[in-house]
Amino acid sequence: MDSVLLIVFSYLLGSILFGEHIAKLKGVDIRSVGSGNVGATNVGRVLGRKYAVLVFLLDAFKGFFPILLSRLYFGLDSWTTFFVGLACVLGHMYPIFHDFRGGKGVATASGVLLGVSPLTFLLSMIFWTLLVKLKGYVSLASMGSSLFATLLLLLQGYDYRVVFMSLFITMLIVYRHKDNIKRLLEGTEHRVRL
Ligand code: G3P
Repeated sequence: MDSVLLIVFSYLLGSILFGEHIAKLKGVDIRSVGSGNVGATNVGRVLGRKYAVLVFLLDAFKGFFPILLSRLYFGLDSWTTFFVGLACVLGHMYPIFHDFRGGKGVATASGVLLGVSPLTFLLSMIFWTLLVKLKGYVSLASMGSSLFATLLLLLQGYDYRVVFMSLFITMLIVYRHKDNIKRLLEGTEHRVRL
C-alpha cells in the first residue's frame, strides 16, 4: 500500500457528501433549508432523526475506514495516519465532487477518533450528549467535544502526531462553525432537544 495513494483515497472518500445525496433522493435541496449545512444535524432537522443517524453513520465511516487501513499498513503513530485523518475531514469540508463546498466535518472527525481510540470516542460522545442536553446547541457540543477529545488524547499519552492531528481537526471544525459561532453570540443559533 502506497501512503500517498491512501491519503488521496481518504480525501476522495471524504468528498462524498452523503447528506446531500440522501436529501436529494428525498427531493430536498439540503443547502436551501435549515442551516444550509450538508451534515447529519441539518438532515435530521429537515428529514427527521432516522435520516440524521444514517447520515452520521455514513459520514463517520468516511473517517473510520481510512484510519483503519492506515493503522493496518502504517501504524497509528505515523505521518501517514496523521495525513489520512486530516485528508478525510478536509475531503468532507472541501469536497472535490461538490465545488469544494462541504460540511463542518464533525461526523467524519468522530469516525477518525473511533479508529484512533474507541475509548476517547466513547467519552467524547458522552461529553457531546451532556453538552447538548445542558445547553441545547449541537454546534457548541460539536466544537466542545472535539477539543475535549484532543485533551483526552494528550492526557493519555498518545503520540504527538495523533494529538496534533486531533488539534488541527478541531481548529478546522471551529473555523467551519464560524456562522454558528456568530449565531451563538447573537443568541439566534438553532436549539435542539435530545
Ligand atoms: O455537525 C454540525 C453541527 O455542529 C452544526 O450543524 O446544521 O446546526 O449548522 P448545523
